[in-house]
Amino acid sequence: MQTVRLGRTEAFVSVAGLGCGGHSRLGMARGASEGEAARVVSHAIERGVTFIDTARIYGTEGAVGRAIADHDRPSLYISTKSWVGEGGSQERPRLYSAAEFTANLEDSLRRLGTDYVDLFHFHGVSLEQLPHVREVLLPAVRRQQELGKVRHIGLTEIFRFDTGHAMLREALPTGDFDVVMVGFNLLNQTARATVFPVTQALDLGTLIMFAVRRGLNSVAHAAQAVAELVAKGEVDEGALDPADPFGAFTRHPDIAGQLDLAYRFCRHEPGAQVVLTGTGSTTHLDENLAAIQRPPLPEEVRATLMRVFARATSASGE
Ligand SMILES: NC(=O)c1ccc[n+]([C@@H]2O[C@H](COP(=O)([O-])OP(=O)(O)OC[C@H]3O[C@@H](n4cnc5c(N)ncnc54)[C@H](OP(=O)(O)O)[C@@H]3O)[C@@H](O)[C@H]2O)c1
Repeated sequence: MQTVRLGRTEAFVSVAGLGCGGHSRLGMARGASEGEAARVVSHAIERGVTFIDTARIYGTEGAVGRAIADHDRPSLYISTKSWVGEGGSQERPRLYSAAEFTANLEDSLRRLGTDYVDLFHFHGVSLEQLPHVREVLLPAVRRQQELGKVRHIGLTEIFRFDTGHAMLREALPTGDFDVVMVGFNLLNQTARATVFPVTQALDLGTLIMFAVRRGLNSVAHAAQAVAELVAKGEVDEGALDPADPFGAFTRHPDIAGQLDLAYRFCRHEPGAQVVLTGTGSTTHLDENLAAIQRPPLPEEVRATLMRVFARATSASGE
């Protein structure tokens, strides 16, 4: 497994990170048991994945805890998160106090069966919530860091609603956060201009989410997502085949299919470090780990994908 330096954390982690949330939640979203989900985590670790991302809200911390109990804890980099308010970030949640947020961390540590996490994120933060995060919750997490319960502090956006990274554009220059999780994929490449220049200048750890998500996990979903961008005038009509928008690229002899295209596009983006992949299937996981470790896409393919989606700003691939 290829490894990468996670920015200023100085940790070296696998370039492929196991995402234990998303639409799959290690298969638990479609009824897999915690034991089955734990087997997916163990499979990833056996294939060399050291970066594992979960969250309080995913319901998969228990599965991760079961899997990591059988492995060498210091060799793994465990990332978890808490929403900053009750009910998540979708409406206007009552924001947590510092004590409540710290209690969430304690719950996560208990479910994970570990006495520290390598990375604790403020999960799905909106622009409006950022002042509360910085003024109230961040000092509390720093105290937990001093106690050795948290090694590094991370921040994730709600890409589905914040497709232009408004929150991260405000938050990252403060230097308050060691690691950022940002949405980036074929359909929305806006982080290239707005986020990666800052993460690179400040040497922040950079995690890519939404590389595939739903919008790119089948040809039919990709066709639907591209049709919406064409209807909004963000992609030129006729630029891509409406029935199979990425078919012209996936027929290239060096490209193994749409997911290979999607993961490699993210993996080799300057500024991207860890690409998260979420699945409940060990077959899918093996395919995805292979894709993330393949060489960069042919330059003419990458250049065309950048040109075709240059004006696309509204999709997340959700
Ligand atoms: N705001 C946040 O903090 C936030 C938000 C979203 C995601 N995340 C993190 O990012 C991680 C990645 O999530 P994502 O949704 O962006 O994952 P992803 O890897 O982009 O998408 C995976 C989706 O495609 C399917 N899939 C995976 N491999 C496949 C294959 N080879 N062939 C066909 N289908 C395949 C998966 O379901 P199957 O089970 O069927 O494989 C899943 O529904 C999450 O797990 C989470 O850790 C964080």
